[in-house]
Amino acid sequence: MCGIVGYIGKKYNALNVLIEGLERLEYRGYDSAGIAYIDNNKLNIIKEKGKIKNLKSKINFDIKSNLGIGHTRWATHGIANKENSHPHKVGKITIVHNGIIENYEQLKENLKNSVNFKSETDTEVACALLNKLYEETNNMNETLIMFQKQVKGAYAMGIICDDDYNTMYAIKNKSPLIIGTGKDENYIASDVPAILKFTNKYIILDDGEFAKINSDEITCYKGNNIIKKEEKIFEGTAEDIEKNGYEHFMLKEINEQPEVFKKTVSEYISNGIDSLIEKMPDFSKYKNIKIVACGSAMHAGCIGKNLIEEFANIPVDVEIASEFRYKKLFIDKETLVILISQSGETADTLAALEIAKEKGCDTLGIINVYGSSIARNSDVVLYTKAGSEIAVATTKAYFAQVALLSLIALKIANSNNLVKSDELKEILSEMRNLPIKIQNLLDRKNEFKNIAEKIYKNNDIFFIGRDVDYSLSMEGSLKLKEISYINSQAYAAGELKHGTISLIEDGTPVISIVTKESIAEKTISNIKEVKSRGANVILVTTEKLDKQSDFYDYKIVVPNTHKLLQPLLAIVPLQLLSYEIAKLRDCNIDKPKNLAKSVTVE
Ligand code: AGP
Repeated sequence: MCGIVGYIGKKYNALNVLIEGLERLEYRGYDSAGIAYIDNNKLNIIKEKGKIKNLKSKINFDIKSNLGIGHTRWATHGIANKENSHPHKVGKITIVHNGIIENYEQLKENLKNSVNFKSETDTEVACALLNKLYEETNNMNETLIMFQKQVKGAYAMGIICDDDYNTMYAIKNKSPLIIGTGKDENYIASDVPAILKFTNKYIILDDGEFAKINSDEITCYKGNNIIKKEEKIFEGTAEDIEKNGYEHFMLKEINEQPEVFKKTVSEYISNGIDSLIEKMPDFSKYKNIKIVACGSAMHAGCIGKNLIEEFANIPVDVEIASEFRYKKLFIDKETLVILISQSGETADTLAALEIAKEKGCDTLGIINVYGSSIARNSDVVLYTKAGSEIAVATTKAYFAQVALLSLIALKIANSNNLVKSDELKEILSEMRNLPIKIQNLLDRKNEFKNIAEKIYKNNDIFFIGRDVDYSLSMEGSLKLKEISYINSQAYAAGELKHGTISLIEDGTPVISIVTKESIAEKTISNIKEVKSRGANVILVTTEKLDKQSDFYDYKIVVPNTHKLLQPLLAIVPLQLLSYEIAKLRDCNIDKPKNLAKSVTVE
């Protein structure tokens, strides 16, 4: 996934807007970056491999420019080098692009006799096609309409044509693109935080639409038709995207979890169970639920499965979106398909949504980004009120996803008369108290740092658990992997002895999660199996299950809460442990190598 930004106007220097925007978008990809800008009626392009700071060092900010487009790249086609960086220019057309042109090889074949391609990218091919169409029509609107007909795939593009430096064009299909609106200036960006320093007003371009953007006018088109688009106000603020004194966005976002929990659940419990009944959708017509997502969102789905099956007594399947979209499916109108996505733009999850709708299923999105593609195309949306999440490794959004899933479990359980009134009171009271218990864990970060110091040099670390504790293991392991680059596996505790236990050596750290009382003894016997083979056991358990014993080397005890909410407390030490280990290994915590915040390509 890449980030694009553009500016046209007189109020600001385009160079500053582009770099500020790209720095905000760097979490979307940071293999290379570049800008194209107009200076004295001449188009200039600067692009550099690596992070934005490499590009920034090549720019003369004394130049005043009124029009420019910029790009930060997560390489898909072609290695991360200067030639493959954007912007690309062919003839009179210069573009920046986020997405993948699926039929670019065929297009390149048709163009190769007339274009001397300099890069391996699909984007340069798209640029060459735009230039060819423009040469044929001498009209950008017609060019864009023909482009849409000839190109397959995902694209969000900023475009400059040499024949008119008073206009910037934007075109969108499947990749996110917003148009920021100002007084005598306008913007384009992959998301609003990129331009939040300059404006919080924006328009969302939808698939198949394009826009002609001048400093004082924006005209949106669907084909030849001018379309009216609603101007929105971004709810977040500039400080939402600052670190507010934390060393990393990830640490800031972990520490926002008490507030995020309150914001996410408050509307559903403000008036006890009545508000839950009123605000949460009616699930009674569904015989089963299919949760589809990727990465941490899928892990949240696994917790949702555990909780909904345990409390609401209906079958739940969790599917990895990239698997779901190509497999034989047994879903119908009695199946509710829940799509979980922080960004709301993950290509595989978006594709799964379309398939679910084709199969006649109702769809519910658990989404963090307002107005994102999955949010806009789901039948019903429950927003996780996590605010802008900048760190590539998700924490607070995952947390809010689990919170909403516990509310769904409670709603269904209650409508099926499966939860008694005194237990309901206990759950609601625990929900109100949970932020304090989360804060209790956040305040103990030095305890987790001390444990991190014991294991951060290991290159293999296991997470084990059963049932909901296995689901927690998956997320703990992914957090560790993606920011510390330690090879880590999450394993069902009872499954280890069927082969994988052969990997346990003297001192191998095994983070063992035991929070579910009904199976605690079973997991403890698995822990003893690894302990007897030399493992260095870090036990994560609850006050209720805590007991002195020799089957662990280190212990993290989390406060008790109702079992519906226990995963929300158990995940916090796993997040902080991963953070502290990555810090000790001097990793780039907010922007881990090879990753992007939202994967908007297959
Ligand atoms: C989580 O830490 C990862 N960055 C990644 O697994 C992420 O959860 C996944 O790509 C799904 O993203 P989404 O929630 O935006 O759909």
